[in-house]
Amino acid sequence: MDGQSDFSVNIQRNCVVRGFHLETLDRYIQELIHEAEQALSTAYAPYSRFFVGVALLLENGKVIPGSNQENAAYPSGLCAERTALFAAGVQEPGVPVMAMAIVVARSDGTELSPAFPCGSCLQVLLEVERRQKSPVRVYLKGTGQQVYEADGVSVFLPFGFDSSFITEP
Ligand code: THU
Repeated sequence: MDGQSDFSVNIQRNCVVRGFHLETLDRYIQELIHEAEQALSTAYAPYSRFFVGVALLLENGKVIPGSNQENAAYPSGLCAERTALFAAGVQEPGVPVMAMAIVVARSDGTELSPAFPCGSCLQVLLEVERRQKSPVRVYLKGTGQQVYEADGVSVFLPFGFDSSFITEP
């Protein structure tokens, strides 16, 4: 505890992101990343030209794809992560999400590093984790062969707003 505060806030913090080369990952994770790459072709991103493809691996073995869907009224569009998470909620309600692969690309072939999910997608992922009571392992890939792995949303969102704050006493 540092001398500048009256007390420390006790939050579990696990901010480690591990890096792997694609070919060293388990085959089923490589396949999940491949599914996310396939989903890039369904992205509708005429405004940003930044394509995001997602694949969710559910506990029952099903894979749910997602991609970013933009709109001329910019805020009406939706990120790839949320299209996939909400689709899973509709197509396979109650089935836990084990892992999520997120791949980014540009139409002009520019090299891109893996990109972290935005705050709104992290908030939705947090709700999914709390609801299913287990973390979602996240894999991030850009245009190269490097893949980032994180054990759950707490890696990116160590302090998150959840239902415990609004529950009646
Ligand atoms: N985007 C995602 O799909 N996921 C994110 O986590 C961040 C951004 C999309 C939204 C928009 O279509 C484009 O990337 C540029 O922001």
